[in-house]
Amino acid sequence: MVERKLTVGPLMGLVFGFTSIQALGAALDLELFNVLSGGKGVDVPEASDLLGIEERPARALLISCTALGLLGRREDGRYYNSPLSEKFLVRGKPDYFGGWVIMARDRLFPAWMGLTEALKTNRPRTWKEGSGHFESIYSHPGELRTFLEGMHSLSIQSGRALAEALDFSSCSRLLDVGGGSGAYAIAVLEQYPRLRGVVFDLLPALEFAQEKIAEAGLSGRLKTIGGDFFKELPKGFDAHLLSMILHDWGPEENRAILRACFDALPPRGIVIISELMMDDEETGPLPAAQMAMNMIVENMGFNYTWGEYEQWLTEVGFRGIRRIPLQSPAANGVIVGSKP
Ligand SMILES: C[S@@+](CC[C@H](N)C(=O)[O-])C[C@H]1O[C@@H](n2cnc3c(N)ncnc32)[C@H](O)[C@@H]1O
Repeated sequence: MVERKLTVGPLMGLVFGFTSIQALGAALDLELFNVLSGGKGVDVPEASDLLGIEERPARALLISCTALGLLGRREDGRYYNSPLSEKFLVRGKPDYFGGWVIMARDRLFPAWMGLTEALKTNRPRTWKEGSGHFESIYSHPGELRTFLEGMHSLSIQSGRALAEALDFSSCSRLLDVGGGSGAYAIAVLEQYPRLRGVVFDLLPALEFAQEKIAEAGLSGRLKTIGGDFFKELPKGFDAHLLSMILHDWGPEENRAILRACFDALPPRGIVIISELMMDDEETGPLPAAQMAMNMIVENMGFNYTWGEYEQWLTEVGFRGIRRIPLQSPAANGVIVGSKP
């Protein structure tokens, strides 16, 4: 039997992983994918001219993006957007994912530089002195926008996956609890024309949500309400959605949020938890493990196991609890519970 020789190849891939997000972020900053949108191809001198950078860096950027699968080089020697970039990386298109890239690079990447310290101290890295996670984000308008743009790019994809995986036809009013940019509610209401909804969040998030709702042409059916889910939730909704909410908090806060949902829902009302769920065996999957580590850097939460979310739902009084797997960037599954 031939013994396979171990090499450092896989480690090199891990170590240089950071170069990918930096190349992608720089390409977005320079509007590369917008310049090439619609099938326009460029050679190095044209790219240099259009991007306003010299030929040596233009050449490096075009080759790097090609090696990453973001561009293709055809026989004419010119570089073109790959189908992936044309769909997801052109600013202004409905599936634009660049907001998440920029948020990850500008907000998360610097915070992750302090990961060892966060692990040693069990303290997040993104909070400003004397304030909590969301107070820190919301006290700075630029950070708030970067955060909500990032969430929107990520969540619009997952909201569409949710609208396909879960049948909302028996629901009439959806409350998107901590709905942020409104991405989930927008995606679900687009799929269900009879459904009405409200994005409930801290007041500073709502202006951005209203912009996104208006862009989607949903201002008639999707409203916003400002408030604090630790105090009270509005009544009159038969479905509550918690997308990427419970992973921000510890077990006690999560029981309190679920209790607030239970109290505000009518009998037979449902709560939907959408997250990157950790396997019950606690071996992954990788996206959930990565997001759990992000919580170490960002706040005092965790990406919990399917079983932990189910346990809290049961403790609070929900019944008929079921798991629905999803394939999406912000959630690999949802758990639905009903109020008896
Ligand atoms: C990780 S984001 C998720 C946003 C959205 N659900 C999504 O999946 O795109 C968490 C959201 O919780 C909101 N939030 C945090 N604390 C809150 C509170 N006490 N009451 C209401 N919303 C809150 C934040 O403003 C933020 O929009």
